[in-house]
Amino acid sequence: MDYSLLWLNRKPAGTLPPWAGRLAGEVRTPQGRAALRELEQALAPHRDTGPALRLREEAGEGEGYRCVREGENLILTGTGRGLLYGTFSLLRRLTLGDEAFPDAERPAYPIRMLDHWDNADGSIERGYAGNSFFFREGKPVCGPRTRDYARLLASVGLNGCCLNNVNVRGESLHLLTGKYNRELREIGETLGEYGVSLWLSVSFAAPLEQGGLPTADPRDPAVRRWWQETCGRLFAAVPDLAGFLVKADSEGRAGPHTYGRSQAEGANLLADAVKPHGGSILWRCFVYNCTQDWRDGKTDRARAQYDTFAPLDGQFAENVYLQVKNGPVDFQIREPVSPLLVRLEKTKCMAEFQLAQEYTGQQRHVCCLAPVLKEVLDFRGPAGKVKDRISAVCAVSNTGGDFNWTGHDLAAANLYAFGRLAWDPDLRAEEAVREWTRLTFGDDPRVTGTVTDILLRSREVYERYTVPLGIGWMCVPGTHYGPSPEGYEYDRWGTYHKATCREIGVERGPAGTGYTAQYGPELGRMYGEIGTCPEELLLFFHRLPYAYRMKDGRTLLQRIYDDHFSGCADAEAMAEAWNTLEGLVPEDAFLRVRERFAEQVRSAREWRDVINSWLYRLTLIPDERGRTIYL
Ligand code: GCU
Repeated sequence: MDYSLLWLNRKPAGTLPPWAGRLAGEVRTPQGRAALRELEQALAPHRDTGPALRLREEAGEGEGYRCVREGENLILTGTGRGLLYGTFSLLRRLTLGDEAFPDAERPAYPIRMLDHWDNADGSIERGYAGNSFFFREGKPVCGPRTRDYARLLASVGLNGCCLNNVNVRGESLHLLTGKYNRELREIGETLGEYGVSLWLSVSFAAPLEQGGLPTADPRDPAVRRWWQETCGRLFAAVPDLAGFLVKADSEGRAGPHTYGRSQAEGANLLADAVKPHGGSILWRCFVYNCTQDWRDGKTDRARAQYDTFAPLDGQFAENVYLQVKNGPVDFQIREPVSPLLVRLEKTKCMAEFQLAQEYTGQQRHVCCLAPVLKEVLDFRGPAGKVKDRISAVCAVSNTGGDFNWTGHDLAAANLYAFGRLAWDPDLRAEEAVREWTRLTFGDDPRVTGTVTDILLRSREVYERYTVPLGIGWMCVPGTHYGPSPEGYEYDRWGTYHKATCREIGVERGPAGTGYTAQYGPELGRMYGEIGTCPEELLLFFHRLPYAYRMKDGRTLLQRIYDDHFSGCADAEAMAEAWNTLEGLVPEDAFLRVRERFAEQVRSAREWRDVINSWLYRLTLIPDERGRTIYL
């Protein structure tokens, strides 16, 4: 096989409970059969009589399962999907030697999915793990890897995937219009066996681009009819299709604003078209002015999504989910939680995370995002926590055609943790990371201790040697890898820090752009006042002099210097810690990760020196501790 099965490589071993020796069950659905197959493969049942694991399949759509002991037997009950999740949970617990099976479990959200930014030509936008395994040479492809991908997803509780890039271009435009129905149907069926629904990104301008109509205006009856007819044909040909993901009025793509219509009119047009087929629309909120004049000091990109969507609360059809990035700007290493995730009352929201590490080291640096996911899910807004208010979750996938799926072996922890937290947002980040480590590398405490420690520190380490305190956007334009402190300053993207020789940051409190008010009075006050603003977000919310005193008495500038020195030293320490695992983890994985660490350390030093030198040259204030800063 030319790829690894990641955490599915490890099977239950040692003394298994008596019921593991015999399997019994009547299963009817593809998912029920898949559950039985997984159990057979993992447990190798060898008895015809005696205690058994019995599967009882129920009809219906639910995804939960129940697990009870009857004497020495274990009975697993649920729909086919429920049996599948129960099976993977059981196998995980057996492998980890965890005796305490829950009596019943069900997922927190009905949609828990990965968004692939895969293009029809096989490339992946912001992909860092090889080419697409869904598309080759302009066509969707289905093969053994498709099934194993679905197994991996189901094994952590995920139930959907969007096949293609939100920026729909080239041959991908034809996914909607019938040219690839056969391939899509096959992929849909294969994923469906493991309860994974198929979604497609579509272009809002499709009636123009494909339909030959003169407009894509949502109020135009011909446009409406075109969408309805196109959906009628597509859903009939691809029965496993769950709906569409749409990036409209965003970064140059057409949308309802093109025709003077609201985001709700645009989303509802598509929602009406997919509704007869049980479909839903995932409508992205990544709408902002990407042709801003950097000289315009009034416009604040962080405000844009809330300003556009909050006034429309209540106007979206019930099969529309607003897909909201976790922060108000764009997947930086530290951003506050998007206010849309806590302030919409009458609209279904889907939180969007980015496992593809576009701004967080591109799967060459270790950067475990489980703490970020947790931070967002646990964030408490005026009417409750994000995890209790959202209706769905998704993440931009970090997978590709590489042997290890995620480029960096340790980046697979992000995929695993996302699935586990999407199923159960109450799980602790540490638990998810520890589970992944043990399932991947086994139970040697030296390995689990070192790997979980590296993973759990990695986000904060990365933050320190790159852009601490919420500064954001000092990366190389375009590629977004490596430092370029003024790379985005005089550009059109609305991502500025406006550093002078005295001050840095954008003021977003009441005296500035007023962004903090989007959180409501209490949180708005907390973020808006410098003294109560959490320090890790200080430069996201405020413009401050370098002489500003942090809580521990250091100046702001000294804190930034210190973060770069200590972050870089910690990256070096993590690389050394990994080296102690030689001989304790499989050699190929050891070598792959060691190579990535060499690049991480090189890049961390570059970040440290470029940012520190740049600040020193601007301010001429030296490091109080006299460490090397280059002139
Ligand atoms: C980022 C990313 C783009 C992507 C966009 C999006 O800006 O750099 O490649 O298309 O996000 O989320 O739509």
